[in-house]
Amino acid sequence: MSRKKITVIGAGNVGATTAHWLVSKELGDVVLVDIIEGMPQGKALDLAQAGPVEGYDSRLVGSNGYRETAGSDIVVITSGIARKPGMSRDDLLNTNAAIVSSVTEEVVRQSPNAILIIVSNPLDAMAQVAFRKSGFPKNRVIGMAGILDSARMRTFLAEALNVSVENVTAFVLGGHGDTMVPLPRYSTCAGIPVTELLPKDVLDRIVDRTAKGGAEIVSLLKTGSAYYAPSAAAVEMVEAILKDKKKILPCAAYLEGEYGISGLFVGVPVKLGANGIEEIIQINLTAEERASLQKSAAAVQELIDVLKI
Ligand code: APR
Repeated sequence: MSRKKITVIGAGNVGATTAHWLVSKELGDVVLVDIIEGMPQGKALDLAQAGPVEGYDSRLVGSNGYRETAGSDIVVITSGIARKPGMSRDDLLNTNAAIVSSVTEEVVRQSPNAILIIVSNPLDAMAQVAFRKSGFPKNRVIGMAGILDSARMRTFLAEALNVSVENVTAFVLGGHGDTMVPLPRYSTCAGIPVTELLPKDVLDRIVDRTAKGGAEIVSLLKTGSAYYAPSAAAVEMVEAILKDKKKILPCAAYLEGEYGISGLFVGVPVKLGANGIEEIIQINLTAEERASLQKSAAAVQELIDVLKI
């Protein structure tokens, strides 16, 4: 079996860390692309030289162009600017839309059959930019956010319950922004709903901290935004696709009527396999949860209206 080819666009914090997780899991050969001269080449070479120590054989190539990306199975797009303290993800809108749009055009020319995983923010809007620009079917353009948001919630829940993070599942729907919809009712510890294990005030605080999880890290880092957990989340998606795991994960998907939302990328549970998004899973929501999801979708729609896409 020949190795899979994974391209990562943007070799900054998220991109380089994505490459790191990818090769450490030996998921395939990796091409790192960035506009900064020498930087993706340097990081690729450095990471390749960790291979003998860590025991991976992935080939790593860095480039300032797209020729090396030809025939990629998956392309992870992380290029763009990151948040600084005081900025919301939406403040990145126009700059990152231009970057994601031009990058998508180049990527698609070289890899017309690839599956695109979008990480650049504001996430849901950037997924829509890549979807429109690529002309790809909706199963092959997927936004990374839900895994990250639910990983944040799982971390906080596990801490509050004093149990392994592996015992905890969490459910977060909606756009990747302040209006995201963490759902304690569908979050569990060893199968037990967390609503039976933790008092409401503790859950409310966890929900709030989850929704503001990215901002908390931006305010600590001061020079940029989170990258270990975002890249790990993107790599879980790559793995589910390349191994055709049929894994149900929360991702930003293009909705056409599901959850009463149309023509918009919003975070929902999906089944990820070799064809990308193989199914959008619909769950029952209370009237209050449904209203929160609609509000979140409306916030995504506002960005789409600004971009006129
Ligand atoms: N083509 C390729 N790379 C580009 C382009 C472009 N047109 N424009 C910018 N880049 C590169 C930058 O040179 C930089 O190396 O994207 C990289 C972004 O890296 P960082 O500044 O370290 O930002 P990072 O923390 O990786 O976040 C990237 O992911 O999580 C989101 O909100 C975050 O939108 C941001 C993105």
